[in-house]
Amino acid sequence: MTPKTVALITGANKGLGLEIVRQLGERGLVVVLGARDEAKGAAAVAELSKQGIDAHAVKLDVTSPDDVARLPGFFSEKFGRLDVLVNNAGVAEWRADDLGSFRRTFETNLFGVVAVTYALLPLLKASPVGRIVNQSSVLGSLTSLQQKPKMFGNFVIPAYTASKAALNGFTVALAHKTRGTALKVNSAHPGWVRTELGGQDAPMNVVDGAKTAVNLATLPADGPTGQFFHMGEPLPW
Ligand SMILES: NC(=O)c1ccc[n+]([C@@H]2O[C@H](COP(=O)([O-])OP(=O)(O)OC[C@H]3O[C@@H](n4cnc5c(N)ncnc54)[C@H](OP(=O)(O)O)[C@@H]3O)[C@@H](O)[C@H]2O)c1
Repeated sequence: MTPKTVALITGANKGLGLEIVRQLGERGLVVVLGARDEAKGAAAVAELSKQGIDAHAVKLDVTSPDDVARLPGFFSEKFGRLDVLVNNAGVAEWRADDLGSFRRTFETNLFGVVAVTYALLPLLKASPVGRIVNQSSVLGSLTSLQQKPKMFGNFVIPAYTASKAALNGFTVALAHKTRGTALKVNSAHPGWVRTELGGQDAPMNVVDGAKTAVNLATLPADGPTGQFFHMGEPLPW
């Protein structure tokens, strides 16, 4: 029997993360959802299992060094592998604009991603189908903000934009460092999606919002690395 592809999706007890888990599970992957609240993680797994999805949960606050340190052992012991990492957990403080909000936003949106990725990189590099998807945002596309300032209007929060632009920098650098290996590292913009973070005025539902990350998590061997996409279309940095 061919061993199944195993995926970790962070921040996956609700919103886009939960839907990415569901769609990857429907494609036959073993899906592990990271949730900082264990009860919420267990509740999500129970729902997904009823839908026939091979779902598991791991306690993961991406800003917790202890949670992150336990990850490699969890995957090695439980599955003997990890193939796909979707760095989805993210925060946006829409009303705050000070140094504290920069620090809090970067803790999750950048340092959390870096910590989780580096902890799991040996397993991902060992996979023949290793994929890393960094859930970014068009609000981190400096070129888009410069070219279409009116389109983004009031949505631009300095801390969030800077964190996602920095995340994109991490994508490019890690793809560069791993070029020539099987690993692919890309950034995704899900769209403006109705979630707690996106708000109820957003035009997209989570089913469509999850598609970009799901597509990048399951890229074929000749797929791209070190790029930024929305719904299959490249975005400028
Ligand atoms: N929605 C949009 O329009 C939109 C657009 C562009 C990009 N994005 C990006 O998409 C990602 C998912 O957003 P969403 O809209 O699905 O937001 P959401 O519904 O608010 O969900 C965010 C998820 O991240 C988790 N999380 C936050 N901080 C965490 C931490 N320190 N450790 C672990 N998990 C943490 C939350 O856990 P709790 O339930 O415990 O709070 C939740 O599961 C984010 O990276 C966001 O920046 C969203």
